[in-house]
Amino acid sequence: MERSKINESQWLSYKTIAQDVEKTGQYQPLIDWYDQNCKAFEGSTYAAKKCSEILYKYIRNDSNLAILDLGCGTGDQSYILNKMGVQALFYGIDMSAGMLELARSKGLYIELKQSILPEIPYPDNTFDFVISAGTLCSPGNGPPQSLPEAIRVTKPAGILCFSYRKHWFETEESGWKKVHEEMLEIGLMKQLSSEVDDYNRIKKDEQFSGLYFVVQKL
Ligand SMILES: C[S@@+](CC[C@H](N)C(=O)[O-])C[C@H]1O[C@@H](n2cnc3c(N)ncnc32)[C@H](O)[C@@H]1O
Repeated sequence: MERSKINESQWLSYKTIAQDVEKTGQYQPLIDWYDQNCKAFEGSTYAAKKCSEILYKYIRNDSNLAILDLGCGTGDQSYILNKMGVQALFYGIDMSAGMLELARSKGLYIELKQSILPEIPYPDNTFDFVISAGTLCSPGNGPPQSLPEAIRVTKPAGILCFSYRKHWFETEESGWKKVHEEMLEIGLMKQLSSEVDDYNRIKKDEQFSGLYFVVQKL
Protein backbone atom coordinates (compact mmCIF):
# COMPACT_ATOMS: atom_id res chain seq x y z
CA MET A 1 0.00 0.00 0.00
CA GLU A 2 1.25 3.47 -0.90
CA ARG A 3 1.10 5.68 2.15
CA SER A 4 2.73 8.99 1.36
CA LYS A 5 -0.24 10.85 2.89
CA ILE A 6 -1.02 8.24 5.55
CA ASN A 7 0.26 9.22 8.97
CA GLU A 8 1.93 6.86 11.41
CA SER A 9 -1.16 6.09 13.51
CA GLN A 10 -3.29 5.45 10.39
CA TRP A 11 -0.58 3.13 9.09
CA LEU A 12 -0.34 1.19 12.36
CA SER A 13 -4.11 0.74 12.61
CA TYR A 14 -4.17 -0.34 8.95
CA LYS A 15 -1.55 -3.02 9.53
CA THR A 16 -3.38 -4.47 12.56
CA ILE A 17 -6.75 -4.52 10.81
CA ALA A 18 -5.32 -5.99 7.58
CA GLN A 19 -3.59 -8.78 9.51
CA ASP A 20 -6.87 -9.56 11.30
CA VAL A 21 -8.61 -9.95 7.93
CA GLU A 22 -6.06 -12.62 7.02
CA LYS A 23 -6.99 -14.52 10.20
CA THR A 24 -10.77 -14.03 10.23
CA GLY A 25 -11.66 -13.59 6.55
CA GLN A 26 -13.94 -10.73 7.68
CA TYR A 27 -13.45 -7.66 5.46
CA GLN A 28 -15.80 -5.20 7.17
CA PRO A 29 -13.22 -3.63 9.56
CA LEU A 30 -10.87 -3.04 6.62
CA ILE A 31 -13.70 -1.63 4.50
CA ASP A 32 -14.50 0.76 7.37
CA TRP A 33 -10.83 1.73 7.60
CA TYR A 34 -10.64 2.51 3.87
CA ASP A 35 -13.92 4.44 4.06
CA GLN A 36 -12.59 6.57 6.93
CA ASN A 37 -9.18 7.19 5.37
CA CYS A 38 -10.07 7.37 1.68
CA LYS A 39 -9.07 11.01 1.19
CA ALA A 40 -5.49 10.22 2.20
CA PHE A 41 -5.21 8.06 -0.94
CA GLU A 42 -6.05 10.80 -3.44
CA GLY A 43 -3.17 11.21 -5.87
CA SER A 44 -0.82 9.16 -3.73
CA THR A 45 -0.51 5.79 -5.38
CA TYR A 46 2.95 5.03 -6.62
CA ALA A 47 1.93 1.56 -7.87
CA ALA A 48 -0.77 3.06 -10.13
CA LYS A 49 1.84 5.22 -11.88
CA LYS A 50 4.15 2.28 -12.29
CA CYS A 51 1.39 -0.03 -13.64
CA SER A 52 0.32 2.70 -16.09
CA GLU A 53 3.86 3.03 -17.44
CA ILE A 54 4.21 -0.75 -17.79
CA LEU A 55 0.81 -1.24 -19.41
CA TYR A 56 1.03 1.76 -21.73
CA LYS A 57 3.10 -0.04 -24.35
CA TYR A 58 0.42 -2.72 -24.74
CA ILE A 59 -2.46 -0.29 -25.20
CA ARG A 60 -3.42 0.54 -28.77
CA ASN A 61 -5.25 3.75 -29.52
CA ASP A 62 -8.87 2.63 -29.56
CA SER A 63 -11.57 4.46 -27.64
CA ASN A 64 -13.64 1.27 -27.43
CA LEU A 65 -11.06 -0.54 -25.29
CA ALA A 66 -12.61 -1.77 -22.05
CA ILE A 67 -10.29 -1.53 -19.05
CA LEU A 68 -11.26 -2.94 -15.65
CA ASP A 69 -9.54 -1.48 -12.59
CA LEU A 70 -9.62 -3.93 -9.66
CA GLY A 71 -9.49 -2.10 -6.32
CA CYS A 72 -9.77 1.21 -8.14
CA GLY A 73 -9.59 3.23 -4.92
CA THR A 74 -9.92 6.96 -5.58
CA GLY A 75 -9.56 6.39 -9.33
CA ASP A 76 -5.94 7.48 -9.77
CA GLN A 77 -5.35 4.71 -12.27
CA SER A 78 -7.85 6.02 -14.82
CA TYR A 79 -6.70 9.59 -14.17
CA ILE A 80 -3.05 8.72 -14.90
CA LEU A 81 -3.84 6.66 -18.02
CA ASN A 82 -6.17 9.40 -19.25
CA LYS A 83 -3.38 11.99 -18.79
CA MET A 84 -1.11 9.70 -20.81
CA GLY A 85 -3.62 10.00 -23.66
CA VAL A 86 -5.35 6.64 -23.25
CA GLN A 87 -8.92 6.93 -24.52
CA ALA A 88 -10.79 3.91 -23.18
CA LEU A 89 -13.90 2.76 -21.38
CA PHE A 90 -12.85 2.54 -17.73
CA TYR A 91 -14.69 0.28 -15.30
CA GLY A 92 -13.81 -0.06 -11.62
CA ILE A 93 -14.62 -2.20 -8.63
CA ASP A 94 -13.71 -1.60 -5.01
CA MET A 95 -14.99 -2.81 -1.65
CA SER A 96 -15.01 0.69 -0.12
CA ALA A 97 -17.97 2.99 -0.83
CA GLY A 98 -15.88 6.00 0.27
CA MET A 99 -13.18 5.18 -2.27
CA LEU A 100 -15.77 4.64 -5.01
CA GLU A 101 -17.33 8.03 -4.29
CA LEU A 102 -13.97 9.75 -4.84
CA ALA A 103 -13.36 7.70 -8.00
CA ARG A 104 -16.83 8.67 -9.26
CA SER A 105 -16.05 12.36 -8.74
CA LYS A 106 -13.21 12.10 -11.30
CA GLY A 107 -15.85 11.47 -13.99
CA LEU A 108 -13.67 9.04 -15.93
CA TYR A 109 -15.28 5.67 -15.19
CA ILE A 110 -18.20 4.34 -17.24
CA GLU A 111 -19.22 2.16 -14.32
CA LEU A 112 -18.10 1.68 -10.71
CA LYS A 113 -19.31 -1.23 -8.61
CA GLN A 114 -18.88 -2.11 -4.96
CA SER A 115 -17.57 -5.64 -4.71
CA ILE A 116 -15.22 -7.65 -2.51
CA LEU A 117 -12.51 -9.53 -4.40
CA PRO A 118 -12.27 -12.30 -5.45
CA GLU A 119 -15.80 -11.61 -6.67
CA ILE A 120 -15.81 -9.68 -9.97
CA PRO A 121 -19.42 -8.98 -10.98
CA TYR A 122 -18.96 -9.11 -14.77
CA PRO A 123 -19.57 -11.80 -17.42
CA ASP A 124 -16.79 -13.92 -18.96
CA ASN A 125 -14.59 -12.35 -21.67
CA THR A 126 -15.67 -8.73 -21.08
CA PHE A 127 -12.46 -6.68 -20.82
CA ASP A 128 -9.47 -5.98 -23.09
CA PHE A 129 -7.33 -5.05 -20.08
CA VAL A 130 -7.55 -5.78 -16.37
CA ILE A 131 -5.29 -3.74 -14.14
CA SER A 132 -4.79 -3.77 -10.39
CA ALA A 133 -2.40 -1.54 -8.49
CA GLY A 134 -1.74 -1.69 -4.77
CA THR A 135 -4.74 -3.94 -4.13
CA LEU A 136 -3.64 -7.54 -4.56
CA CYS A 137 -1.05 -9.38 -2.62
CA SER A 138 -0.68 -7.43 0.54
CA PRO A 139 -2.05 -8.98 3.73
CA GLY A 140 -5.82 -8.62 4.09
CA ASN A 141 -6.44 -7.27 0.58
CA GLY A 142 -7.49 -9.09 -2.61
CA PRO A 143 -6.86 -12.87 -2.23
CA PRO A 144 -5.19 -15.14 -4.84
CA GLN A 145 -8.55 -16.46 -6.10
CA SER A 146 -8.84 -12.96 -7.63
CA LEU A 147 -6.44 -14.07 -10.38
CA PRO A 148 -8.58 -16.85 -11.99
CA GLU A 149 -11.60 -14.57 -11.57
CA ALA A 150 -9.75 -11.70 -13.33
CA ILE A 151 -8.73 -14.06 -16.15
CA ARG A 152 -12.36 -15.17 -16.50
CA VAL A 153 -13.58 -11.61 -17.20
CA THR A 154 -10.70 -10.84 -19.61
CA LYS A 155 -11.22 -11.35 -23.34
CA PRO A 156 -9.06 -14.03 -25.02
CA ALA A 157 -5.64 -12.45 -25.77
CA GLY A 158 -6.49 -9.63 -23.34
CA ILE A 159 -3.81 -8.30 -21.03
CA LEU A 160 -3.64 -8.21 -17.23
CA CYS A 161 -1.21 -6.07 -15.23
CA PHE A 162 -0.98 -6.51 -11.46
CA SER A 163 1.26 -5.06 -8.75
CA TYR A 164 2.23 -7.02 -5.65
CA ARG A 165 4.43 -6.81 -2.62
CA LYS A 166 7.15 -9.22 -3.64
CA HIS A 167 7.68 -10.90 -0.26
CA TRP A 168 3.93 -11.46 0.27
CA PHE A 169 3.52 -12.83 -3.28
CA GLU A 170 6.22 -15.36 -2.56
CA THR A 171 5.07 -16.61 0.87
CA GLU A 172 3.27 -19.90 1.19
CA GLU A 173 0.92 -18.13 3.60
CA SER A 174 -0.47 -15.81 0.93
CA GLY A 175 -0.79 -18.57 -1.70
CA TRP A 176 -0.29 -16.07 -4.54
CA LYS A 177 2.77 -17.61 -6.15
CA LYS A 178 1.12 -21.04 -6.18
CA VAL A 179 -2.02 -19.76 -7.91
CA HIS A 180 0.03 -17.69 -10.38
CA GLU A 181 2.12 -20.74 -11.33
CA GLU A 182 -0.99 -22.93 -11.62
CA MET A 183 -2.57 -20.46 -14.06
CA LEU A 184 0.59 -20.59 -16.20
CA GLU A 185 0.83 -24.37 -15.97
CA ILE A 186 -2.74 -25.10 -16.98
CA GLY A 187 -2.39 -22.68 -19.87
CA LEU A 188 -4.94 -20.07 -18.83
CA MET A 189 -2.37 -17.30 -19.24
CA LYS A 190 1.17 -16.66 -20.44
CA GLN A 191 3.61 -14.26 -18.85
CA LEU A 192 4.71 -11.26 -20.92
CA SER A 193 6.88 -9.50 -18.35
CA SER A 194 7.83 -9.27 -14.70
CA GLU A 195 9.60 -6.43 -12.99
CA VAL A 196 10.85 -5.79 -9.47
CA ASP A 197 10.86 -2.29 -8.11
CA ASP A 198 12.51 -1.08 -4.95
CA TYR A 199 9.77 0.41 -2.77
CA ASN A 200 12.40 1.31 -0.20
CA ARG A 201 13.13 4.43 -2.21
CA ILE A 202 9.80 5.80 -1.07
CA LYS A 203 9.22 3.82 2.12
CA LYS A 204 12.46 4.07 4.02
CA ASP A 205 11.20 2.20 7.09
CA GLU A 206 9.50 -0.66 5.26
CA GLN A 207 11.61 -3.42 3.78
CA PHE A 208 9.70 -4.57 0.76
CA SER A 209 9.93 -4.49 -2.98
CA GLY A 210 7.18 -4.17 -5.54
CA LEU A 211 6.58 -6.90 -8.11
CA TYR A 212 4.72 -6.21 -11.35
CA PHE A 213 3.45 -8.86 -13.76
CA VAL A 214 1.98 -8.49 -17.20
CA VAL A 215 0.21 -11.65 -18.41
CA GLN A 216 -1.94 -12.48 -21.40
CA LYS A 217 -5.06 -14.61 -21.32
CA LEU A 218 -4.78 -17.63 -23.58
C1 LIG B 1 -3.91 1.16 -1.79
S1 LIG B 1 -5.48 1.36 -2.48
C2 LIG B 1 -5.06 1.40 -4.20
C3 LIG B 1 -6.09 2.10 -5.01
C4 LIG B 1 -5.81 2.23 -6.52
N1 LIG B 1 -5.67 0.96 -7.18
C5 LIG B 1 -4.60 3.07 -6.79
O1 LIG B 1 -3.56 2.51 -7.14
O2 LIG B 1 -4.70 4.29 -6.64
C6 LIG B 1 -6.19 -0.28 -2.28
C7 LIG B 1 -7.66 -0.34 -2.68
O3 LIG B 1 -8.03 -1.71 -2.78
C8 LIG B 1 -9.31 -1.88 -2.23
N2 LIG B 1 -9.40 -3.29 -1.79
C9 LIG B 1 -8.57 -3.93 -0.94
N3 LIG B 1 -8.94 -5.21 -0.80
C10 LIG B 1 -10.04 -5.39 -1.60
C11 LIG B 1 -10.89 -6.49 -1.89
N4 LIG B 1 -10.71 -7.70 -1.33
N5 LIG B 1 -11.91 -6.29 -2.74
C12 LIG B 1 -12.12 -5.09 -3.32
N6 LIG B 1 -11.37 -4.01 -3.07
C13 LIG B 1 -10.32 -4.15 -2.24
C14 LIG B 1 -9.37 -0.87 -1.09
O4 LIG B 1 -10.69 -0.55 -0.73
C15 LIG B 1 -8.60 0.30 -1.68
O5 LIG B 1 -9.44 1.19 -2.35
